[in-house]
Amino acid sequence: MNSPSASPESLPVPLVEDLLTDWLRARFAQTFPDCPDAASAGRVLPSANPEFGDFQCNDAMGLAKALRLPPRAIAEKVVTGAALPGVVARLEIAGPGFINIALEPAFVSERAAAVAADPRSCIPQTGAGRTVVLDYSSPNVAKPMHIGHIRSTIIGAAIDQLHRALGYRVLADNHIGDWGTQFGIIIMGYRHFADPAKLAEAPASELERVYVLSYKRAKDDEAWMDQCRAELVKLQQGDSENRALWKEFIRLSLVEFERVYARLGVRFDLVRGESFYQDALAGVVGRLEAAGLAKESEGATIVDLSAEDLGVCIVRKRDGGFNYATTDIATVDSRVTEFAPEKIVYITDERQQLHFKQFFSVCRKLGVAPDSTALVHVWFGLMRLPEGTFSTREGNVIKLEALLDEAEARALAIIRESRPDLPESDARALAAQIGIGAVKYADLSQDPRTLITFTWEKALALEGNSGPYLQYAYARISSVRAKYREQFPDTDPDAHPLVLGDPVERALALKLAMFPAVVQKAALAYRPCLLADYLYDLAQTYSSFYQRLPFLKAEAGVRESRVRLCGIVAEVLGRGLSLLGINTPERI
Ligand code: ARG
Repeated sequence: MNSPSASPESLPVPLVEDLLTDWLRARFAQTFPDCPDAASAGRVLPSANPEFGDFQCNDAMGLAKALRLPPRAIAEKVVTGAALPGVVARLEIAGPGFINIALEPAFVSERAAAVAADPRSCIPQTGAGRTVVLDYSSPNVAKPMHIGHIRSTIIGAAIDQLHRALGYRVLADNHIGDWGTQFGIIIMGYRHFADPAKLAEAPASELERVYVLSYKRAKDDEAWMDQCRAELVKLQQGDSENRALWKEFIRLSLVEFERVYARLGVRFDLVRGESFYQDALAGVVGRLEAAGLAKESEGATIVDLSAEDLGVCIVRKRDGGFNYATTDIATVDSRVTEFAPEKIVYITDERQQLHFKQFFSVCRKLGVAPDSTALVHVWFGLMRLPEGTFSTREGNVIKLEALLDEAEARALAIIRESRPDLPESDARALAAQIGIGAVKYADLSQDPRTLITFTWEKALALEGNSGPYLQYAYARISSVRAKYREQFPDTDPDAHPLVLGDPVERALALKLAMFPAVVQKAALAYRPCLLADYLYDLAQTYSSFYQRLPFLKAEAGVRESRVRLCGIVAEVLGRGLSLLGINTPERI
């Protein structure tokens, strides 16, 4: 308590539900000291229906059997005679045994104000002193990023920001695919087909083009294939010319990747490609063999995981080459040793689920991942594009840059119509914020596991659950604040108390007070959509607040309180959107 750095401002603020849960837990335990199940009862959650209060606890129902009492009687025993925490205005037992809790309005407004006043938005710093390694984006050299990499980048960056908000030390590692058998094919393609002008303009696309040409040729031209193999062997044996080419391919690809990351506002702490771990691969296989985990099978070295229904994991191929899984095991080993992370989280599309299950299992067996390090695969479904909506689509690959270009162009067309007076450069800057925000939000607002269909109409809609809608809501709130400043230049609304006279004001303030809990939940569940849902809900509640109540025409005092509440909504919307990587222009 007396640590010198702990000023009152920096003391952690417990989440409202945790505060209530602690109290109710103690009540359950005291009331039924002989029932072990009661000790873990008392979880308080936000109310499903606001009519019944702000929070509720449903645990009396689950104890009926163990206690041989009707749940309502259990709930009554728990609460009768208890001194309520000061923040509780009302506590009621309803239906079969729900415990419904309503908070004191003064507490609600104090919490709402604290969220905006605290630079950390009162988000519990449960990640302080802990490290998480996030492995996301991770495209392959000589291939442009496809839609799977787009989603990995956008979802990964949001999970990244959410963890930083909890105080974690985050190491975002872009595990690029910069090693593998494709390099022999690329070297041949590059030597014979590369166009210098195209290489300068869009290097990754050009490398992919020559790769595809060379790959096709190798299919029906035996001699070509042999040359590709020979080039690969030379590269692997350290031939200086091929090493130089390989390095150049990585450099060129990174130029293009970086351009995309800059547009998306994404930054990595590490870019350690697969090649970083090459020297460790033989050792990994050696350890697996020494531990009796790996065995020979048809000339290859495998770890048999059929006992856990995961098939076999090949760690060394017949030709002596190592696999994707071998690299991933070596990568875990390196990350655990160097960073001692609490968890390593991978974000990829659903097609890699088996791969992750396999090498996670091997890492556990081999002990490279200790119990203290969780290995987590966050997978998402592939996004679909309805036929014909995306003009530059080629085959199944949707190029990220083209997608962003189109988003910006469409946003620009909308802006030119709504604000024809805006100078060109401002219009373009705004179009970038709206277009990219729309693409990101369209992705993040969906449950990552569902199969989603992307449509421009929905992504760029100004109504409904879209990025532009939320950006627009933010800008409208800012304009209310600006109008107030014009009319009342001498008063500071933020110095006035919040008065929650109307139910919609109270509902709005309660939502604001929930922000820290939502951030924590979204981070720990790796589900940015929980935050997106919350922000949309907040914007809608704000909208009914705005439509229902007078602001500038309200009586003095109430007027200031409402304008202050507006400011808190804007602050929370802005911070929430920024965690999702979405900018909030002051004017749209
Ligand atoms: N480069 C891989 C791909 O494009 C994704 C890598 C994901 N990360 C990992 N450590 N396996 O499919």
